[in-house]
Amino acid sequence: MLPRMERTFIAIKPDGVQRGLISEIVSRFERKGYKLVAIKLVVPSKQFAEKHYHDLKERPFFNGLCDFLSSGPVLAMVWEGEGVIKYGRKLIGATDPSKSEPGTIRGDLAVVVGRNIIHGSDGPETAKDEIALWFQPKELVSYTSNEEKWIY
Ligand code: PPS
Repeated sequence: MLPRMERTFIAIKPDGVQRGLISEIVSRFERKGYKLVAIKLVVPSKQFAEKHYHDLKERPFFNGLCDFLSSGPVLAMVWEGEGVIKYGRKLIGATDPSKSEPGTIRGDLAVVVGRNIIHGSDGPETAKDEIALWFQPKELVSYTSNEEKWIY
């Protein structure tokens, strides 16, 4: 990975997967120019969801949020690119879809905060921790996008 590159953890939550929004969401990250370096579909346990959201355990919605994340398949991904942590959050839009701008993933595709279809790491430290929680190092793939080789 080039020194200026960074990686972020992005998850399509059970509502996004079950509504058939995987390709729509993945394509927004691809078209922006970010590189997918890890992906898997998992049904996290409640205990795992509690680990993922550990910093929210005092919040009133913590239990419901963990129930929701562990209620079905989650598409866990790692995306790489310059500024991907911050700009990935921009692509996603504000936490509450009723306040997300049109053109963002939540603004275009979601309605309420408890069902906001996607999660993205909120900073470099969180990204590092979340990638380590969801993926083993060997699941992260390093490759060069060599377009001249594939486009004629
Ligand atoms: S906060 O309030 O600043 O901690 O919120 P935020 O950092 O934006 O959100 C943290 C995660 O909590 C989810 N969230 C909620 N879930 C259910 N109900 C309510 N009211 C609610 N408020 C926030 C929010 O979607 C964030 O989870 P992720 O997975 O990152 O979207």
